[in-house]
Amino acid sequence: MKIIAVMSPKGGIGKTTTADSIAYILGEEHEKRVLVLDGDPQGDTSKTFGCYEPEGIGMSELLERHVCVGGDYHTSELIKATEYSHIDMIPANGYLMKTDMNLLMKQEENQVTRLRDALTEVSGAYDYCICDCGRLLDMVVINILLSASLVIAPVKVGGYENEALHNLEEQVENLREFNPEIRIKGIMTMRQKNKTSLEFEEWLREASGFDMFITPVRRSIVVEKATIGMTVLPKFSRNGIVTQDYREIVRELLEEV
Ligand SMILES: Nc1ncnc2c1ncn2[C@@H]1O[C@H](COP(=O)(O)OP(=O)(O)OP(=O)(O)O)[C@@H](O)[C@H]1O
Ligand SMILES: [Mg+2]
Repeated sequence: MKIIAVMSPKGGIGKTTTADSIAYILGEEHEKRVLVLDGDPQGDTSKTFGCYEPEGIGMSELLERHVCVGGDYHTSELIKATEYSHIDMIPANGYLMKTDMNLLMKQEENQVTRLRDALTEVSGAYDYCICDCGRLLDMVVINILLSASLVIAPVKVGGYENEALHNLEEQVENLREFNPEIRIKGIMTMRQKNKTSLEFEEWLREASGFDMFITPVRRSIVVEKATIGMTVLPKFSRNGIVTQDYREIVRELLEEV
């Protein structure tokens, strides 16, 4: 099972759209077995895949009450089926914020590696595990980053976004001691056809030194409509331009594996 985290310290930059679209295309179009993890207390990915329950079990139990930390849950007991035959998920809700606090207070040795331990239990059952992250590098996200071999970082045109990618690279570098396998790859998102956007794209690809997916994701109002409808984008807009872009990105991903 290849574990991919979608992370950026920026909010509203397309993390969830990217995680959901990649998961959907891998599962429903390439018939890969996909497990989606929701690492954000907002629960956006859980909502998109129809698994959101404000009081339900999921990521919090995986991190706090799993058998590997002396609790009573096995990973498989926390996995929910979605309406898509190739996609399962472990959902999240607001309790994940409390989980972050609880992990922070614990000071136990496995407080940042417990997700990795819990996921080994199901590593034979899935080809990919796609994790949507919140915007903070909290204990939940650190657990995800220490489990992942690839971090996909959406970045859009702008100076602060570029700096955010630098910061994330530094943070990932700091985690390498615990997870030597980890690497980071950017996706330019919300690309428009103006000069600034196109120049930024060229700089990202040619001169920034960041490892980038070749395909940029274009901006389209259809994505916002899919978000409002809480429907995963490639299902909402099967042949829209942004779906096509994510399809290309998945092709790049499959080629490099
Ligand atoms: N390519 C795109 N074109 C136009 N709008 C987009 C695109 N990608 C994402 N959006 C919109 O931008 C908003 C934020 O997207 P999304 O929720 O994926 O970001 P996020 O980084 O996960 O946000 P958060 O930090 O809140 O978790 C949503 O309204 C979404 O519809
Ligand atoms: Mg999100």
